[in-house]
Amino acid sequence: MGAYQIIGGRPLRGVIPIHGAKNSMLPILAATLVSGGTCVLHNCPQISDADAALTILQSLGCQVKREGDTLIVDTYAADGTEIPAALMQKMRAAVIFLGALLARFGRARLSHPGGCRLGERPIDLHLMGLRMLGASCVYEGEELLCTAHKPEAATIALPFPSVGATENLLLAALSCEGETVLCNAAREPEIGDLIGFLIACGAEIEGVGTSVLRIHGRRPLHGAEYTIMPDRMEAATYLCAAAATRGELTLTQAEPNHLCAVTDILLRGGCELRQSARELTLRCDALRAVSPIRTAPYPAFPTDAQAPVMAAMATAEGVSIFEETVFSDRFRHVPALRQMGAKITATKRCAVVEGVPVLRGAGVEATDLRGGAAMVIAALAAQGESIITKTEHTERGYAELVSSLRACGAEISLTE
Ligand code: EPZ
Repeated sequence: MGAYQIIGGRPLRGVIPIHGAKNSMLPILAATLVSGGTCVLHNCPQISDADAALTILQSLGCQVKREGDTLIVDTYAADGTEIPAALMQKMRAAVIFLGALLARFGRARLSHPGGCRLGERPIDLHLMGLRMLGASCVYEGEELLCTAHKPEAATIALPFPSVGATENLLLAALSCEGETVLCNAAREPEIGDLIGFLIACGAEIEGVGTSVLRIHGRRPLHGAEYTIMPDRMEAATYLCAAAATRGELTLTQAEPNHLCAVTDILLRGGCELRQSARELTLRCDALRAVSPIRTAPYPAFPTDAQAPVMAAMATAEGVSIFEETVFSDRFRHVPALRQMGAKITATKRCAVVEGVPVLRGAGVEATDLRGGAAMVIAALAAQGESIITKTEHTERGYAELVSSLRACGAEISLTE
């Protein structure tokens, strides 16, 4: 268990290369199982969630090797169909192994996944879709046993465009005879990346980037070499850090097109932005509040950026109102920001942020991945010293956080 020690109040200035996207890499690692071959994945960030996914693959009989940011996964000899509860507990994305195991072996036994506590996170939509594809899903105590003896294509309309359900159904549909049509599918760029990988493995999937996906099942699959797309939430976090500290950061190896909903808020708040194909520079001299900021599925403003943007808005001139529509309990970072002097009142779904001229350093505890990132941003902007404990939350999703920020002038260190 580590802690960040941060002396704040310095504008961040410099260049940060963006890593590969955690939320692409994790489902793609699960999907390697379906390929049945050897997959070489480039641009895989060295974060603890990656280690958790690799441990699951190994427990199922796969060979895994890391060479820097490249992961080599040989799934040929995989034969396991059960994931122990201790491994399921490590992250939410563990649930994507359900669709992968069903597609490869027609059987999976696992328990409810862990992950950030953001309110209720049921998997009813995953199971509804899997049942429509002919799978039997029954709970035996805490364990879920799914079997698919005769997987059949179906037309599935998701009541909500769940990211995880879309990923699980995409994978499960690969073993179904005929064409599965997935309506109201999530359109997050990470879904497009997963589809890109599956196509590289030989799958036939139409509709990438849209809410209607057509999956032609039973195509012969093979291993593939693939590069994970840039992490839009890592990029959003650093943009907010630049805004909160009134600095100037250039992000390289990024994908500006995936960040429009976040950059729109920062531009309206008075930041200057320059961008080219793979790079963007944000400069902030003064920040005005923007309101309302309402989270919703892509391409709307992302729930994962809500906490980092709130940390920046805590320093803005004026009042911002945040409405969280995706998760039922995603303001758990608010008490920590208040300890740092932020003026925020929050109910379960709505937070009112009255910007203050200065935040002050404090000792706080990270609550979840993006909440922890928001605390780092607030601490970088605050006068004085902050200690943020429970860095295991941020280590799940941010590679080289401390060195990236230090290279841009931040006074931050990690103590064990
Ligand atoms: C993914 O979670 C991401 N995780 C989350 O990123 C992200 O916040 C979320 O999508 C929304 O963009 C990964 O990709 C590993 P959902 P996921 O299914 O798949 C409800 C981060 O910080 N729901 O779209 O769990 C659910 O309760 C993380 O990187 C059901 O009701 O998101 C929630 O309220 C955290 N039933 C909403 O839908 C279901 O069966 C969105 O969930 C499934 C979901």
